[in-house]
Amino acid sequence: MSALIDEATRIAREFDYPADQVQRGVAEYIKQSNDGLAQEGTTLSQIPTFVTAVPNGSEKGLYLAVDLGGTNFRVCSVQLHGDTTFSLTQSKIMIPRELMASGTSKDLFLFLARQIEAFLRIHHNEHFEAHQRRRRDGNNEEDLFDLGFTFSFPVRQCGINRGTLIRWTKGFNIPDAVGHDVCALLQSAINELHLPVRVAALVNDTVGTLMARSYTSPGETGTFLGAIFGTGTNGAYVEKIDRITKLQKMEDAHYDTSTGEMIINAEWGSFDNHLSVLPSTVYDHDLDADSNNPGVQMFEKRVSGMFLGEILRLALLAMHNNPDLGLFKPSKTSKVVTPENSTLYRQWGLDTSLLSQVEADNTAEMEDVKAALKDHLKIENPSNDECQAVKILVHAIGKRAARLSAVPLAAILIHTRKLETDDIVDVGVDGSLVEFYPNFEGYMLEALHEVPQVGAAGAKKVRVGISKDGSGVGAALIALVASKDETLQNPSEK
Ligand code: BGC
Repeated sequence: MSALIDEATRIAREFDYPADQVQRGVAEYIKQSNDGLAQEGTTLSQIPTFVTAVPNGSEKGLYLAVDLGGTNFRVCSVQLHGDTTFSLTQSKIMIPRELMASGTSKDLFLFLARQIEAFLRIHHNEHFEAHQRRRRDGNNEEDLFDLGFTFSFPVRQCGINRGTLIRWTKGFNIPDAVGHDVCALLQSAINELHLPVRVAALVNDTVGTLMARSYTSPGETGTFLGAIFGTGTNGAYVEKIDRITKLQKMEDAHYDTSTGEMIINAEWGSFDNHLSVLPSTVYDHDLDADSNNPGVQMFEKRVSGMFLGEILRLALLAMHNNPDLGLFKPSKTSKVVTPENSTLYRQWGLDTSLLSQVEADNTAEMEDVKAALKDHLKIENPSNDECQAVKILVHAIGKRAARLSAVPLAAILIHTRKLETDDIVDVGVDGSLVEFYPNFEGYMLEALHEVPQVGAAGAKKVRVGISKDGSGVGAALIALVASKDETLQNPSEK
């Protein structure tokens, strides 16, 4: 074996995450999730969402939804037809970098409101114009769109449309927003532009995914869990209200208790921030140390798309800088060069789509691996050993991420005793990793199956389905619930 392959194989072994470690992770997750249900300020936030029922597909109406949480801002209107189907019109805008990390919250929210305005002018101009006319005529009659605001960051919710930002994640950093009600920030930007829109619901993307899956999924079974494995990772699930003991201490909380259940946004990206059970390599350590939020989102930093590319880059760079290996450096047998402007040298330079592309190439010629190295890293003419080394690392990093993803899933299934009571447990997932990384779901289910309290019989009951558009349809569904809940329109009545 060549020295390159040897070293890649050695590094890959550091990413092994065997069944006994998965099991330790599960036990710790159950412990941290119980802490989170009982009190504030724990690593797993276990945020009550005030959504107390899942849809059954018969819901109807026209709603607006916006989504802030990744690289793009999405605005959409959703027509729910009431027969498990919907139509969706949307626009997507890339969020300027400077608004994500250096501006003020006012700049950011005004930018969002302007995109809503542009969307309304294009797709709902009649409604928009009528509203403007009524305003000019001094007519106070209102015909507002109810909007579901998908805001995919940790928020302390105190009602279905109220919640203060706990911290930014995924590269966002606008300090003056932390501690403020993000619905109020959006509503005041909307009011400044006089738009016919009421922010009716605050929605985490995982909750949207759960709701959307429940609306569209076949059969009678409501969805139990929604999860995102994309730029970030997180999950939301249906919990018994009497287990969410910290709710009793929230004096200003309003919610319907008739179902006895409430969706919890776990914020599992922050599972085990103190690293008691999570696996760690030197690359994980360096990535965290150089990130803008060291010590938090430690689970997310090992699992989600925003970080896998950087883990790979750090491992490749170590092999590149090792004089005995000279990965991507010219040698007697190789003409490869790495240009100075290659993303190999740039922090966060590697996109996770590179991993998906490399993992998908199972051919002897590895043409797709070569194309990926050229497109993403500007590296041309790599040797076969170099391509093989990249493949070995990619596979190890991706597989560890997928196996880690089984930890929260297994823990939630065990702690809610869902597998004991139900024949089918429906799970909706979304995000670039489950969608594009080959066999991500397969590796995750394999690890789930290996957890003794789940086993083959338990894993068989778990029905996983991709739930696209959670942030649109799911948010619309929650806006619908919120707009119908009279206690929210008149909280004093409750
Ligand atoms: C956020 C979550 C979100 C997840 C997936 C994480 O970084 O903290 O709120 O659900 O990303 O988008």
